[in-house]
Amino acid sequence: MSDVSESLNSKPRLLHEMNGQELLAELFTDAHTAYTFTEEAVTDEEIHAAYDLAKWAPTGVNGQPLRVAVVRGGEAKRQLLSALPRGNREQAEGAPLVLVCGAKMDFHHDLPSLHPRGERYEKLLADNEKMRVLMAHTSATIQVAYLILALRAQGLETGPMNPDDTQLLHDYFFSGEDIEPILVINVGHAGTDAYQERGPRVGYDEVFREPQVNA
Ligand SMILES: Cc1cc2nc3c(=O)[nH]c(=O)nc-3n(C[C@H](O)[C@H](O)[C@H](O)COP(=O)(O)O)c2cc1C
Repeated sequence: MSDVSESLNSKPRLLHEMNGQELLAELFTDAHTAYTFTEEAVTDEEIHAAYDLAKWAPTGVNGQPLRVAVVRGGEAKRQLLSALPRGNREQAEGAPLVLVCGAKMDFHHDLPSLHPRGERYEKLLADNEKMRVLMAHTSATIQVAYLILALRAQGLETGPMNPDDTQLLHDYFFSGEDIEPILVINVGHAGTDAYQERGPRVGYDEVFREPQVNA
């Protein structure tokens, strides 16, 4: 079993001192999407520690298709910015670190080393592209959600954003690999006026339904 305390550094030591309610507030109810950031760098240690938590996300046949390009500046940042809708560029420009998240579409070839019946599933998914594409997207998206929570657990703020030119992101960050960019995440520490007004959430009764045939 993994030792979660090893995955938490500086600010998360404070998390250790929180009670359960405070911890849930830090990760969920008080956590906001951030739109501005300070210049404080995000360290390699923080990103590694976040992944050490996020890697426990459930994925289809344990395929773990998420792949992430880490962008800090220079030509990589310029390319990234040009792949974003204009309205999203300022936010990304101000973030000390941006993660380009992609789904590895040919993850089925990794299954023999990731799943006890991996060879069988590799063949099944090779013959069923529709299932493979769906599984790559849903599993990578679940991994992204875990990554956002894990970054928050490191005391970092996140701003997920849709990219515009996914072809450019693929060609620059995942060249020669069968990886589809799915989302960009700005990461850092909250800057001035970092948050927008909280939008309402859809209620339980709208989201959940129990068909009569349950009875
Ligand atoms: C998949 C996804 C795509 C998003 N795309 C954008 C975007 O393109 N531009 C933007 O400003 N915010 C984007 N957001 C941020 C959402 O608007 C924000 O997370 C949501 O309104 C909830 O805000 P809150 O965390 O402050 O409650 C995106 C969030 C997600 C999860």
